Amino acid sequence: MSSTSTTSRALFLEEFGSLPRLGERTVPEPRPGYTLVRVAAATAAHLDLNILDGQFGILPELPFVPGTQGSGYVLASDTHPEGALVRLRGEGIGLHRDGAWAEHALVPDAAVEVMPEGTDPALACVYFSPVGTAWATVHTIAQVRPGERVLVTGASGAVGAVAVQLAARAGAEVIGAVGRPAKLPHVPGVAKALLASDLSEEAIGGKVDVLIDTVGGTILRDALTLVRPRGRAALLGYTAGRELTLDLADFFLADVSLLPVNMMTRTPEVAPEVLRLLPDLSSGALTLPYERYPMDALGEAVERLRSGTAVGKIVLDMESAGR
Ligand SMILES: NC(=O)c1ccc[n+]([C@@H]2O[C@H](COP(=O)([O-])OP(=O)(O)OC[C@H]3O[C@@H](n4cnc5c(N)ncnc54)[C@H](OP(=O)(O)O)[C@@H]3O)[C@@H](O)[C@H]2O)c1
Repeated sequence: MSSTSTTSRALFLEEFGSLPRLGERTVPEPRPGYTLVRVAAATAAHLDLNILDGQFGILPELPFVPGTQGSGYVLASDTHPEGALVRLRGEGIGLHRDGAWAEHALVPDAAVEVMPEGTDPALACVYFSPVGTAWATVHTIAQVRPGERVLVTGASGAVGAVAVQLAARAGAEVIGAVGRPAKLPHVPGVAKALLASDLSEEAIGGKVDVLIDTVGGTILRDALTLVRPRGRAALLGYTAGRELTLDLADFFLADVSLLPVNMMTRTPEVAPEVLRLLPDLSSGALTLPYERYPMDALGEAVERLRSGTAVGKIVLDMESAGR
């Protein structure tokens, strides 16, 4: 093990409904079946906030180190090469066992995936879910074809922005809608960017073939009216509301296929495609929006996430806390 320090900083959740406190602990002892990682970056996502709020099905005993996803470098492992950049996820990390909001994490070997050398650790911890979801939505579920017109809602969000770019790569003409004016400049340039409140057939030049909706609620209800008969609507989020009321007579008349996106069953099929896109993400040919914060700016990061003002994902930089 190449770590010289025996103490290590971590964010400790001491009470549900509060923000974790930055404190110190001894570096976890390596043991068989587990990999010790020097954490480089971790995501702060809505799932993590549910844990902080005590709003998740199974809750950990406190104090607890949150962080359901991260990346870092292997310090000690029977399974993974020492020094390798790895992604950390699954096996209950950040849910019922200590997670990635720490300078060091001891996690089950099965929660560790080796990443291609040279990948930015921030990208490594954040890319899989949004890129995999966007890929499956555009290609497998909505099956976007060249020449089609595609409307993406939440187009500055992590999934939305990648979906915009993948639909354009598939040869579609893309319209990207956002909720707040401040997000308009963050819609990838390959799309025509509009406020969701300004969407109309006139504003977008007629009906679209495909809707990719990442926000739900009234945005989805209104956007559905802009899809042509026999068009498709892929639905993948409900941040703006989880209910959709259908008048069956209108639904038959509109003749739009509603296609649910459920990534829980699709990880194996998207994994090779996502890995194939990683060089484009590294070079910037494909952009994934995320904001970076040092570990000691967790409060600001959580506020950006809770208020919906964040552009894309939130990454905590675990190497920048400055001892
Ligand atoms: N079905 C699946 O398997 C699956 C897989 C991955 C993700 N998802 C879901 O897909 C959705 C998009 O994920 P993402 O990673 O792209 O999220 P994100 O980066 O946070 O983007 C979500 C977008 O929703 C918009 N929004 C509308 N109403 C909002 C509100 N009340 N609060 C916050 N944002 C609001 C925001 O844009 P404006 O500010 O422009 O409105 C934001 O850009 C999420 O709901 C996520 O849970 C589903």
